[in-house]
Amino acid sequence: MTQVSSTARADRGVAIHAHALTHSYSRGRQSVSVLRGIELEIDAGSHVALQGPSGAGKSTLLSLLGGLEPPSGGELVVGDHDLRRTRGRALAQYRRLIVGFVFQHFGLVEVLTARENVMLAMSLSRVPPAARRRRTDEALAAVGLSHRGTHRPAQLSGGERQRVAIARAIVKQPRLLLADEPTGNLDDEVAVRVLDLLDALRREHGCTLVVVTHSALVAARADRHLRLRDGVVQL
Ligand SMILES: Nc1ncnc2c1ncn2[C@@H]1O[C@H](COP(=O)(O)OP(=O)(O)OP(=O)(O)O)[C@@H](O)[C@H]1O
Ligand SMILES: [Mg+2]
Repeated sequence: MTQVSSTARADRGVAIHAHALTHSYSRGRQSVSVLRGIELEIDAGSHVALQGPSGAGKSTLLSLLGGLEPPSGGELVVGDHDLRRTRGRALAQYRRLIVGFVFQHFGLVEVLTARENVMLAMSLSRVPPAARRRRTDEALAAVGLSHRGTHRPAQLSGGERQRVAIARAIVKQPRLLLADEPTGNLDDEVAVRVLDLLDALRREHGCTLVVVTHSALVAARADRHLRLRDGVVQL
């Protein structure tokens, strides 16, 4: 694995502020209250591990931070984006330009190759085509998958799919990187290399990194640890 190439940059990470943040899902006539008053202050450029029991709402919190769905209530501000009030095109731009997301279930486009999946992440960015191709190749190399660029997700192992998802998240050099169990399908050696890669991205490009994990190995890399339980963050 090689490192993602970069030029030195000022810190670009975004700060996160949440106050009385709530989120519920409706299931038929029932409403399931998942987040029940999250209080959170995360410094720009920090590396946070988010832990908690299965079903606690970790993926839900990441999806709110990533602008995938609007919060039900409270305040959520990421950088200068007020996510309670950001809608439509502005929200799509936030997701495309600010956030890199490694989904728990990868979320790759099945009909596209690994390389096309990674390149797609830059589709709304201002990166010129030649630089897109170069960055895509570098990101695939960084996760050790140069030889699998032409494979579709169904032709990849679980760990390889996970690494494509990581390449897709890092290729656009996001200011906020949200990773949901990013090493869940990787052996320890590859997991350590992926964690090194995320650290390098944070150092070189100054992103804020929020990693959901059940793994002590992964959590140990963070400089701050948050625990989600009963719909609130226990500090
Ligand atoms: N789209 C949805 N509609 C209805 N309920 C949902 C939806 N998404 C999640 N939930 C519910 O919200 C709760 C929190 O789910 P979430 O996926 O955030 O948990 P998690 O902490 O990420 O768990 P895990 O560690 O197993 O990934 C669960 O009880 C789940 O059933
Ligand atoms: Mg989850």
